[in-house]
Amino acid sequence: MSLLTIYNCFDPVLRKKCSTIENIDDDLVQLSEDMIDTMFHAPGAGLAANQVGVSQKMIVVDLGLGTDNTKPTTIINPIITASEGEVIAEEGCLSIPDVFAEVKRAQKIEVKGVDLQGKDIKLEVEDYLARAFQHELDHLEGILFWDFLGKMKRDMLRRKFKKKLKETAS
Ligand code: NI
Repeated sequence: MSLLTIYNCFDPVLRKKCSTIENIDDDLVQLSEDMIDTMFHAPGAGLAANQVGVSQKMIVVDLGLGTDNTKPTTIINPIITASEGEVIAEEGCLSIPDVFAEVKRAQKIEVKGVDLQGKDIKLEVEDYLARAFQHELDHLEGILFWDFLGKMKRDMLRRKFKKKLKETAS
């Protein structure tokens, strides 16, 4: 088991759009395994590759979210191909620990991508799981959840997080 460092929201890698993955090699498979370990250790429900400093389109999500069983999955080059409904709920991010805010998301989505064997996959997910996927896909585009908030609210949370970082550093 290998735990990776999770970059925080002020690192430029979190703001850069990730590249499409062209080849699935052993390094990518290893990265995926390490990301899953890192996600569960955090603990979190999902993690995007750029959160561990790798600017490539890969996410891991716990499909067991909301149940007693963990069920990690890896999706390469994920895209949302359909969405419906709207739901507002509290959201957080492993790159902005201890900061939470209400964000509006689609209630149900269809996600397509490729698995580690290079096989096409399609998933239909709802509610918190749909939220986790939307959140992780945003990461791959350099988007953070607080980008959806009003400027005042975002600036307030940013100040709060900066203060927390300073405290932990000293
Ligand atoms: Ni996040």
